[in-house]
Amino acid sequence: MKNYDILQHVKGESQFVDDILVPEGLLYAAVYYSQIAHGKIISINLDKAEKINGVKSIFTSKDIPGDNQIGGIIQDEELLATDKIEFIGQPIAIVIADNQLNAKAAARLINLELEKLPAVFDARKAAKNNLLIVPPRTFSQGSTEDCWSECDYIVEGQADSGAQEHLYLETQSAIAYPVEGGGIKIISSTQSPTVVQKVTARILNLSMHKVEVDVLRVGGGFGGKEDQATSWAAMAGLAAFKLKKPVKLILPRQEDMRATGKRHPYSSDFKIGLKKDGSIIGYEVTFYQNAGASADLSPAILERTLFHCTNSYYIPNIKATAISCKTNLPPNTAFRGFGGPQGMFVIESAIFKSAEVMGVDPAEIQKRNLLNENDEFPYGQKAENCNTKRTWEKAERLYFINKIRSDVKYFNDTNDIYKKGSAVMPICFGISFTNTSMNQASALVHIYSDGSVSISTAAIEMGQGVNEKVRQIAAEIFSIDIGKVKTESTNTTRIANSSPTAASSAADLNGKATEQACNNILLRLKKTAAEILGKNNFESIKLKNGIVYDSNIKTDLDWSKLIKTANLNRVNLSSHSFFATPDICFDRTKEKGKPFAYHVYGTAIIEVTLDCLRGIYKFDSVKVVHDFGKSFNQLIDRGQAEGAIVQGLGWMTIEEIMYDDQGQLLTDTLSTYKVPDIYFTPEMEIDFLENAENPFGIFKSKAIGEPPFMYGIGGYFAILKAMKAFNQQLDYFFNAPLTPEKVLMNLYRKS
Ligand code: MTE
Ligand code: HPA
Ligand code: MOS
Repeated sequence: MKNYDILQHVKGESQFVDDILVPEGLLYAAVYYSQIAHGKIISINLDKAEKINGVKSIFTSKDIPGDNQIGGIIQDEELLATDKIEFIGQPIAIVIADNQLNAKAAARLINLELEKLPAVFDARKAAKNNLLIVPPRTFSQGSTEDCWSECDYIVEGQADSGAQEHLYLETQSAIAYPVEGGGIKIISSTQSPTVVQKVTARILNLSMHKVEVDVLRVGGGFGGKEDQATSWAAMAGLAAFKLKKPVKLILPRQEDMRATGKRHPYSSDFKIGLKKDGSIIGYEVTFYQNAGASADLSPAILERTLFHCTNSYYIPNIKATAISCKTNLPPNTAFRGFGGPQGMFVIESAIFKSAEVMGVDPAEIQKRNLLNENDEFPYGQKAENCNTKRTWEKAERLYFINKIRSDVKYFNDTNDIYKKGSAVMPICFGISFTNTSMNQASALVHIYSDGSVSISTAAIEMGQGVNEKVRQIAAEIFSIDIGKVKTESTNTTRIANSSPTAASSAADLNGKATEQACNNILLRLKKTAAEILGKNNFESIKLKNGIVYDSNIKTDLDWSKLIKTANLNRVNLSSHSFFATPDICFDRTKEKGKPFAYHVYGTAIIEVTLDCLRGIYKFDSVKVVHDFGKSFNQLIDRGQAEGAIVQGLGWMTIEEIMYDDQGQLLTDTLSTYKVPDIYFTPEMEIDFLENAENPFGIFKSKAIGEPPFMYGIGGYFAILKAMKAFNQQLDYFFNAPLTPEKVLMNLYRKS
């Protein structure tokens, strides 16, 4: 079983936005961005720029016919700055020219008269100045005030985690075409065609049916195109609408890195109380989220941080507060895990520090507090079909965790310059958009008269293999060769009001819609087959491997003859179906409910070897027992797990985003921003937990896109342990990423 895009990808035949055949009269866009982090525009001078050869037009906020507003959760973000500037990289004008070079050259000649204002880049400082995106949220359970007296140990500390660049291979891209009747068609590299449609309609003052958005595939999104593909598509749309010409806007890599938001950096304070036996009695945590200059998805991400603040543990007394802080950085946005990783890093830090104080291995505390069946999360949902302990215990057995620990100790006792460390990392991740209303999808299935099948859904293929899963579902239900099934582009005229492909839910939501639509047609086909075979009852009819069976006896009616006859008999060979996740809810006034359809569980053990002369490290292995539910495509699911683990390790270790004191991104190239490569990638063993059928997932599977990302968090603690083996005076610190530079400085620090 291959992910069917693979052959085309390897041959370079897959089409991304920039590969689409150039239409007659295509124009090119370049964006002019703010060079200061906070200020006011006094005037914009376009005179010099307009004189450049080939320049057709330059658009500013004044040219927007509709509402200059792209904000989703909160309407606080302009497409093009009118007078307020809030971050470096904020779009101010769009230059349209006959080619990209001329557009770029002209953009450089735009002149601004500005008034500079003081800027804030630090989340805690913003909070002090009451610069908040939304009011703080608190999840609580039991009573932390009363619980401290029961505790034998109380440990406090701070844990910070850094930003992360999405680094999708395809940068933000769109082509917009004027269509008859004053409408616009946009081909966009977005995870959310409906958001692009809605926002472009708002910008152009059009009804949504005049804006068509089409997505063939996305060259990687990782959350970075859930909200932030929209503005570029809307800009191309604006220019195409105004000039009545097709317009292409492709961000050069460096501009993409500078102008788009990243994973939110968090700074957090924790207080944790434990008994001598290691059981956690209470946990208080305050999260400061660095949201950047506008809301974007920050409030939803903040919420997911709270949902995952206790990771895989049951803690009876909880108080978790999350504060979304407005700073003068590009608005930070969705990134694989959606705030969950940031929350989980803090509880793991608290446990790690407690273990040090108590003189035990962190794994002892982790294991003692793992969730049991029906334990209640701080948000009121119960842990059902809870596989946390099963994955932990299987990992212990399968990977000989105790032996790994003693081998590490032996290695460290017998080596001076190289030291090893290991850490266990359990994960628990809730599946569903935390915003209940977003848990909906639909599918449109056609069988053509030759028996080939075409499927449209709301799912966006961005490398995660959702299209292949959708094809498998149809092939399975019709029991035909998968080669007969094709997935179409994701298009707002075929699939309306779609949620973004996000929250790891695309295969579940769109898969279930596809399943229903196929079953609708299958029922009609069985009735048709019964008629052809002269039966008055269709219940004994089955389709198997492209052949019709009656009471398990092979007939000479095959798929293509059945479809041809059904078509002649005027049977409907198409179906549209809608799916909404049942039985989920969340009450934000009480902060309680059942927000998730189910949870994904797992346990990893990570080993690292540290070169204490140079501060560099190599992860030797990541060994995982993961709850995939009942996977129906192990190749894709394993690929998702491996990719997520490496991305998670990158976030914790070598990926460091740095801004200067003016808010200018310093790490805006691939020579200054390091990401994992094949040499960084550890050996990975991934075990599929057996007997884990998930009643709520498509074909009893579980969502896979995001959860394994959080195994990477263990990498941080494995390195800390290796460092301690070298420098016994090391004071543990929780400040990711743990770059080789940071490691080296601390290896030789005496406290
Ligand atoms: N895998 C690849 N190759 N490319 C991506 O952009 N995005 C991740 C994950 N895996 C991504 C990926 C993120 S952030 C999410 S939410 C899920 O895929 C979304 O797809 P799914 O719902 O089909 O799992
Ligand atoms: N996950 C990912 N994207 C989202 C979510 C979520 O829970 N809610 C809104 N957008
Ligand atoms: Mo994924 S961060 O939900 O796009």
